[in-house]
Amino acid sequence: MGKKILITGGTGYIGSHTAVELIHQGYEVIIVDDLSNSEQHTIESIGKITGKKPEFHQFDLRDFPSLAALFNENKFDGIIHFAAKKAVGESVANPMLYYDVNLNSMLNLLKLMELYNVSNLVFSSSCTVYGQPSQLPVTEDTPFSLAESPYGHTKQIGEDILHQTTRTNRQLQALSLRYFNPVGAHPSALIGELPVGVPANLVPFITQTAAGLRATLKVYGNDYDTPDGTAIRDYIHVVDLAKAHVRAIERMLNHEQKKSYEYFNIGTGKGSSVLEVIQAFEKINQIKVPYEVVDRRAGDIVKIYADTTRANHELNWKAQLNLDDMMKSAWKWQKTLIT
Ligand code: NAD
Ligand code: WQD
Repeated sequence: MGKKILITGGTGYIGSHTAVELIHQGYEVIIVDDLSNSEQHTIESIGKITGKKPEFHQFDLRDFPSLAALFNENKFDGIIHFAAKKAVGESVANPMLYYDVNLNSMLNLLKLMELYNVSNLVFSSSCTVYGQPSQLPVTEDTPFSLAESPYGHTKQIGEDILHQTTRTNRQLQALSLRYFNPVGAHPSALIGELPVGVPANLVPFITQTAAGLRATLKVYGNDYDTPDGTAIRDYIHVVDLAKAHVRAIERMLNHEQKKSYEYFNIGTGKGSSVLEVIQAFEKINQIKVPYEVVDRRAGDIVKIYADTTRANHELNWKAQLNLDDMMKSAWKWQKTLIT
């Protein structure tokens, strides 16, 4: 039996892809998710892709007794903590919900890790911790700036909690992965992103527009200080991102960590503008995406992309897939949602 890894939020978008990659590498995966933003049939899909259906428990991580019972029944070698609420706009409308869910979930995990001597935690952080960067590409040494939203603040606080607790609790090690913009889906199109309602993010909006579910894509501003005037992001294929988690777990289990708390940017290192993403989608999939340019979106970052040197050298991880792969797989997945 392989090493046992607990994945919180494992039926979600990034968690499900990570479960697949871990199972491919021989790990035993146990998933906890309250299904507040995902569906249980994802467990079957993970089983179809890998030939091994992971054990699944449905509960809210804020439910301490249920989580304690799971720790009591299992000796985990590591934990990957994805479970969180992630909608920026909703967090502005309801900050307390975000502080409650995102922070109490992490605190319950840390309390039980201490109680049951579980050492290794990988945390889903985000490039949002950097805010509007003054220097590009962004390195991990860039200090956090005032969070753009309560959601972003929960990631900054989450990282701070891990930094402090790993200093005081000698047996605990933690590693944060600061994702840039995860997009795309598994090439099988059996798992992918399931946005609820009108997507706030660019790529799901593009795929839904191409599918005829939305009339027109709104491009938020073409008067930024960028080559084509539209904002720039570092889009990363979700399968590459999933593989970074496997490397993170390996690093911890192999005692390769140099400090008890480490953090890595996970992106491609390449920035793409909104128009470049639309053009890549149209070209690779041979389908038009009707769009119109509208005013800038309040609070948007103008341009951000990662310096991935640390992840490339220390984590021994590098993104392999390009924007075409991302757009192709995103469209293949969207088509499974239409039929
Ligand atoms: P997702 O919503 O698809 O997955 C999160 C999962 O956690 C969902 O399945 C949801 O049902 C579950 N969940 C939420 N609260 C829970 C709770 N209290 N108890 C148990 N389960 C709970 O989101 P995702 O895109 O896969 O994101 C995963 C992680 O990565 C999140 O922490 C998110 O903040 C972070 N992240 C995401 C992005 C992105 O653009 N997708 C970027 C940076 C960071
Ligand atoms: C990308 C670009 C938009 C939709 C979000 C979260 C952030 C982090 C990463 C989790 C921007 C433009 C978008 C549309 C558009 N997630 N756009 N029309 O802004 O980088 O941030 O993901 O931690 O916290 O806020 O991603 O996909 O929303 O936007 O023109 O309909 O596409 O203005 O330039 P973003 P996004």
